[in-house]
Amino acid sequence: MHTALPKVLVTRNLPESGLALLREHCAVQQWASDDVIPRDTLKTMLADKIACLALLTDRFDAELFDAAPGLKVVANLAVGFDNLDVDEATRRGVVLTNTPDVLTDATADYAWALLLAAARQIVPNADYVKAGKWKTWEPMGFLGPNIHHATLGIVGMGRIGHEVARRAHGFKMRIIYHDPQRAADAERDYGAEYCTDLDEVLRVADFVSLHVPLRPSTHHLIDRRSLALMKPRAVLINTARGAVVDPDALYDILAAGRIYAAAMDVTEPEPIPPDHQLLSLPNCLVTSHIASATFKTRDEMCELAARNILAVLHGERPLTPINPDVLEQMRI
Ligand code: GLV
Repeated sequence: MHTALPKVLVTRNLPESGLALLREHCAVQQWASDDVIPRDTLKTMLADKIACLALLTDRFDAELFDAAPGLKVVANLAVGFDNLDVDEATRRGVVLTNTPDVLTDATADYAWALLLAAARQIVPNADYVKAGKWKTWEPMGFLGPNIHHATLGIVGMGRIGHEVARRAHGFKMRIIYHDPQRAADAERDYGAEYCTDLDEVLRVADFVSLHVPLRPSTHHLIDRRSLALMKPRAVLINTARGAVVDPDALYDILAAGRIYAAAMDVTEPEPIPPDHQLLSLPNCLVTSHIASATFKTRDEMCELAARNILAVLHGERPLTPINPDVLEQMRI
């Protein structure tokens, strides 16, 4: 007897390795583009699907779930999942999964690259050379803060924060951190010092690197008041989510030279418009949300998302569920 294959939607062009896994067991329909799937198209294409391999640019809310009555699993190709309405999914018995672990090192590497680039003015200096402005060795040109032996403040000591601490330890930095929970391993391994108060991190650190998820409680966590606490030569690094930082307050503080620099791989909004005031500042480095963009990491993210979908379709526990309550209901 021929049984119809489960119908799965993939919302973007993605690495072949993960897609091949899905195709072995499912009828895959794909929005085969490098652009975001339009909302209406997403609704239409989801109508007959049981699973979706989704991107952080796809917003899954009540309206979308209404348009997809047969949906059982959404595998988000990201560790962050602020694009998914978790309560709504759980209420409807839709399993949600994300891609933790496989992108931790690549993201920590990138946070580190931003830290180095912002402190040592790598991008402005490369532009200066290209513009033919390099006339002589300049004892007073392009001075930046020391990285080695400086104090790094980590806001959010989860998996990625932990790996950033490991890198900082190699650079002989003092590490302080704020998180709702203490990280005994980072304290033991890298001498990380716990601060119960975020303000203390902001006041003391020479570099502040953000690694918190975006939630109502972290929206504009770094606001005008907190930016004003930072040291005059401090550097802010954001590889978390753009909306963790108030962009207007950041502009004012950078434009006034009240901190040394900011480097951000994430912005509010995303993409940041090319005429956004932050992009006019020489001490603000912005990249296009590429922290996990390595060949291997993207393959692994796609494979993990595919395996999560296949597990749910086979009645098994997915590897990295977001809302395990639904699995209890499904008894898997
Ligand atoms: C990317 O931002 C992710 O959350 O994986």
